[in-house]
Amino acid sequence: IIKTITDIREVIKTWQAAGETVAFVPTMGNLHAGHLQLVRRAKENANRVVVSIFVNPTQFGVGEDFEAYPRTELEDQEKLKKEGADLLFLPSVIDVYSSEANTNITVAGLSEAYCGAFRPGHFSGVATVVCKLFNIVQPNVALFGRKDFQQLTIIKMMVRDLNIPVEIIGVDTVRDPSGLAMSSRNGYLTEDEKKVASMIYY
Ligand code: PAF
Repeated sequence: IIKTITDIREVIKTWQAAGETVAFVPTMGNLHAGHLQLVRRAKENANRVVVSIFVNPTQFGVGEDFEAYPRTELEDQEKLKKEGADLLFLPSVIDVYSSEANTNITVAGLSEAYCGAFRPGHFSGVATVVCKLFNIVQPNVALFGRKDFQQLTIIKMMVRDLNIPVEIIGVDTVRDPSGLAMSSRNGYLTEDEKKVASMIYY
């Protein structure tokens, strides 16, 4: 477990100097079977697997669930240990966002459509933090769930547009037996709401 940018850079530099490749799985924690599937696929695609847990404040709008977002760090650590991840990166908000930061990344167009039309600024927050994490970790490949298809597409566009040297791999959605896609926010739903939500299949 590493908490600072300086320390993670040091470890990754050592791995890369030894010729090892790095796969990266960025998350906001509260890990479920979908995340663990990303870790498994990551292991198939590189010598080392880095997972980050960072509840990114800039992708939450006013009145959204930043404070209430489920934080289950100890359980998450156990799951990642069992799955065989090599490194868990747990940065602080202050380490990721300097108070003097003035730069944001927006993938214009798609970020304002679909889900983005209801969550102004959300995809800029996602693109900015993912770009920062890529610069910190410098992975060879990074894995994202196809469940968040708009997010996956925006990240692929950002990597293309900014010539970021990382391969983006989309991983199939993991579902509950009812068909409901696994999501950290499913914990907010009542049993009745879960039944309704399971009808939304794609
Ligand atoms: O999908 C998520 O969990 C987040 O949007 C991500 C990609 C980790 C960025 O904070």
